[in-house]
Amino acid sequence: MASTNRNRNRALPILLATLCFIISIASSPHRISAQTPVFACDIDSNPWVAAFPFCNTSLGVQDRVSDLVRRLTLAQKIGNLVNNASGISTLGIPNYEWWSEALHGVSYVGPGTHFSDLVPGATSFPQVILIAASFNVTLFEAIGKVVSTEARAMHNVGLAGLTFWSPNVNIFRDPRWGRGQETPGEDPYLSGRYASAYVRGLQQTDDGNRDKLKVAACCKHYTAYDLDNWKGVDRFHFNAIVSQQDLDDTFQPPFKSCVIDGNVASVMCSFNQVNGKPTCADLDLLTGVIRGQWKLNGYIGADCDSVDVIFNSQHYTKTPEEAVAVTISAGLDLDCGFFLGQHTQKAVDAGLVDEAAIDNAISNNFATLMRLGFFDGDPRKQLYGKLGPSDVCTPENRELAREAARQGIVLLKNSASPLPLNHATIKTLAVIGPNANATKAMIGNYEGTPCKYVTPLQGLTEHVSTTYAPGCANVACSTAQLDDAKKIAALADATVLVMGADLSIEAEGLDRVDLLLPGQQQLLVSEVARASKGPVILVIMSGGAMDIQFAKNDDRITSILWVGYPGEAGGAALADVLFGDYNPSGRLPMTWYPQSYVDKVPMTNMNMRPDPSNGYPGRTYRFYTGETVYPFGYGLSYSSYFHRLVRAPQRVSLHLEMSHACALSNKCNSVSVDALPEDTCRRDLSFDVHLRVRNSGTLSGSHTVFLYSSPPSVHRSPKKHLVGFRKVFVVAGHESPVKFRVDVCTDLSLVDEAGVRKIALGHHVLHIGDLKHSLSIVV
Ligand SMILES: *[C@@H]1O[C@H](CO)[C@@H](O)[C@H](O)[C@H]1NC(C)=O
Ligand SMILES: *[C@@H]1O[C@H](CO)[C@@H](O)[C@H](O)[C@H]1NC(C)=O
Ligand SMILES: *[C@@H]1O[C@H](CO)[C@@H](O)[C@H](O)[C@H]1NC(C)=O
Ligand SMILES: *[C@@H]1O[C@H](CO)[C@@H](O)[C@H](O)[C@H]1NC(C)=O
Repeated sequence: MASTNRNRNRALPILLATLCFIISIASSPHRISAQTPVFACDIDSNPWVAAFPFCNTSLGVQDRVSDLVRRLTLAQKIGNLVNNASGISTLGIPNYEWWSEALHGVSYVGPGTHFSDLVPGATSFPQVILIAASFNVTLFEAIGKVVSTEARAMHNVGLAGLTFWSPNVNIFRDPRWGRGQETPGEDPYLSGRYASAYVRGLQQTDDGNRDKLKVAACCKHYTAYDLDNWKGVDRFHFNAIVSQQDLDDTFQPPFKSCVIDGNVASVMCSFNQVNGKPTCADLDLLTGVIRGQWKLNGYIGADCDSVDVIFNSQHYTKTPEEAVAVTISAGLDLDCGFFLGQHTQKAVDAGLVDEAAIDNAISNNFATLMRLGFFDGDPRKQLYGKLGPSDVCTPENRELAREAARQGIVLLKNSASPLPLNHATIKTLAVIGPNANATKAMIGNYEGTPCKYVTPLQGLTEHVSTTYAPGCANVACSTAQLDDAKKIAALADATVLVMGADLSIEAEGLDRVDLLLPGQQQLLVSEVARASKGPVILVIMSGGAMDIQFAKNDDRITSILWVGYPGEAGGAALADVLFGDYNPSGRLPMTWYPQSYVDKVPMTNMNMRPDPSNGYPGRTYRFYTGETVYPFGYGLSYSSYFHRLVRAPQRVSLHLEMSHACALSNKCNSVSVDALPEDTCRRDLSFDVHLRVRNSGTLSGSHTVFLYSSPPSVHRSPKKHLVGFRKVFVVAGHESPVKFRVDVCTDLSLVDEAGVRKIALGHHVLHIGDLKHSLSIVV
C-alpha cells in the first residue's frame, strides 16, 4: 500500500521547515531569564510529592515508572508521546521539551536548548566528519564527555534539556549527500566505533552507575537514510531499495554498535521508506531488531514530523488514525511533532490502538527521564549539581576543540615538502579564498553559538605577517576576483588558498549534483598558483569530498590539505599544522571520487556492490571498482612510518565437529557463525597481531595503523574491510609496538546474500598497515 507520489505535497517539506523555524523562534526569545532547571518531584517546594512512589529514589526505575503511568488519564498519556511533553501539575510534573541537539557541541537547533546572557556560547568542536578523520577513539569519547558536561551545566541554569538527538551515524555512502558532514564517514566499522565512543562520552556518569545517564544520546536516522534532496527526490518521499546483504553489512552496523556497545538511550527512525515501508512504521526494524535483537534500553523516537510525513506526504495510510496505529504498534515511543498528540485519542476510540501500547511507549520515555534524574528532584543537588556557566567554554574545553581539529586535518599532498612552513624563510603569507577568513562556515550544521572563532586568517596572522584577498564574494564564487589575489600572491613568500564549501553548497535539504569546487574557485586557484612567488598551499574546507584532480596534477600547487569544517578553533589548528607545531595525522574517512562518478551513479541507487552488467561501479572503498582522487584512509605526515610484522598466525581452525556437513564433505566455502558453538566464537577463535611502527622522520607524530581483511571472494564479499585501527604516537627515530586482537567471528566474518553472518573458509589476506599477511581458515 505504500505509494510515494512525488508530485503531490511538494509544499510539505517547506511547510515543515518553516514550522520548525517558527517553533524555534517562538521558543527562543532574545532574552532567556530562566535560571532554574526543569524537574519533577520537587520535594522542597511541594512536600506532598514525597508520597508518590514514582518520586522515591529508593525504588527501581521500572517500579517508579509503573506507579507514574497508572496515575495518568489517557489524555495525559497522549501528551507524553510528543517532544513538547505535557506536564501534570497535580503530580508536580512540569512540561518537558525532548528535542535538544549536541552533534559536535551543545547546539541551539531544537527548542530544548538556548543560549542567553548567562551562557552565550558553548564549545563548538569540528564537524563530525573531521573528528572521524582523527581515527582516535579516545578523542571521540573525550569530546562526548566535554559536550555532556557543558550540557549539564546549561541544564542546571534552565537553558538545556537532558535528551540530545545526536549523533548521526548514517553511512556517508555518496559524496553528494548534504548531511554527510554530520557523519563519521563511509565505513561501518569506523562509524560504529565513533557511535559507541561518542555516546559513552555523552551518557556515562562519573559514578560508574550504568543505570544512570549524564545526558541521553540518540543514534539517528534509522535506517538507510542518507539522501536529502537530489534532483527532485527528497527524503520525505524517498523509498530506499536496499538488499538484505547491504542492510546487514553496511547500513545497520553503526546502529547496532551504538545500541549494543554504546548502550545508547535512544534511536530515531528516519523519514524515508526502506523497501516500501516507512522506517517508523516497520515492526521488524523497530521492535524486531532494535528492541528484540539489540535490546535497546531506552526510547525510539521519530524524526521531526516523520509520522505526519507517513500520512500526508507518503500517503502510506488512508487515515491519520491508521498512521498512529502503524507507528505505535511498530514500536515508536515518541513523536517529534504534533501528529500523535492530535490523532491518538481518535485512534484509540476507533479501536486501532490499545491503551496498553501507549502505556508501553510512555513507559520507555519516562524510564529514560528517570535514569536522567528528572524525577529525583532538584538536579543542583545531584551528581552534576555543581556545574554551571563557568564550566562552559573553559580554556581546557576550547583547547580540546583545537586539538580535535589538529588531529583530524588531512595532508593530501606535499610535493617537494614545502610544509611545514619555516619561520626563517617565510616572513609573509598571502591568505586567499572565500573561506580564508571563515567563521560560521567552520562549524557546519547542527551548530551552537561557539565560545570564540579563530579564523584561518587570524590563526596564520599569529605566526607571520599576512595579506588577505577573498578572491570570491562567497563560496559559490560566480565570478572570481583575480586581480587582488594574484597581486598579493606575487609578493608573499608563500600563498595559502582556503577554498571549498559551506552550508550554501551542502546542507540538510541540499545535496550536491557534482563534485567540483563551486563556481570559479578552480579558476581562482589555478590563476593564483600561476602568479605566486612562493609555494602554494591549497586548503579545502568541506564536509563532502571534492574532485580536485586539477590541483593534484598542478606542480605549482605544492601542498593540499582537507580541513573538513574544523570548528571554532579551526584557524588556529590549521596554523599549528602548517607551521609544524603539529605533525598532521588525519586520514580520510571517505573515498574521494572523480566527477565522472556522479554520471555513473544515481544518488537514489542504494546498492553498495558494483554491477558489471550496467557499469555501476559500486560504493565506498569496500566495493568501488573505479579510479579515485584520494582513497579512504589516505593522509600524509611530515614523517615517514614503516611497519614491521612481529607475529600473526597463518592458520586458524574453526574446530568443527566431525559430523558437521562442512567437515564431512569438504565442499563448503563458508560456515555460518551461528553454526559454531557460542563459546568457540567467543573465546577460542581470536588471535593477536603484533607489529612495530618506526618513525624515520625528524618530527615526532601520531600515526594510524589500519587493519583490513580481504576475505575469499564468496557471497559477493567486500574487496577489503576495516576490522581495526590504532592511533599511536611515535617519537622521531623510534619504534612503537602495536597490537590488534582479532576476533574471527566478528572481525573476519562476512554477511551473505540473505543477511546471514558467515566465516569464509580458505585464504584470507590481512592488510596490516602497508603489509600483507596470508591467513587460512580451515574447518
Ligand atoms: C521509598 O521506598 C522505600 C523502599 O520501598 C521505602 O522503604 C520508603 O519508605 C519509601 N519512602 C517513602 C517516602 O515513601
Ligand atoms: C508546548 O507546550 C506548552 C504547554 O502545553 C505550550 O504553552 C506551548 O505553546 C507548546 N509549544 C508548542 C510549540 O506547541
Ligand atoms: C576576519 O574575520 C573577523 C571575524 O569575523 C573580522 O573581525 C575581521 O575583520 C576579518 N578580517 C578581514 C581582513 O576581513
Ligand atoms: C588521542 O586523543 C587524545 C585526546 O585528545 C590524545 O590525548 C592522544 O594523544 C591522542 N592519541 C594519539 C596517538 O595521538
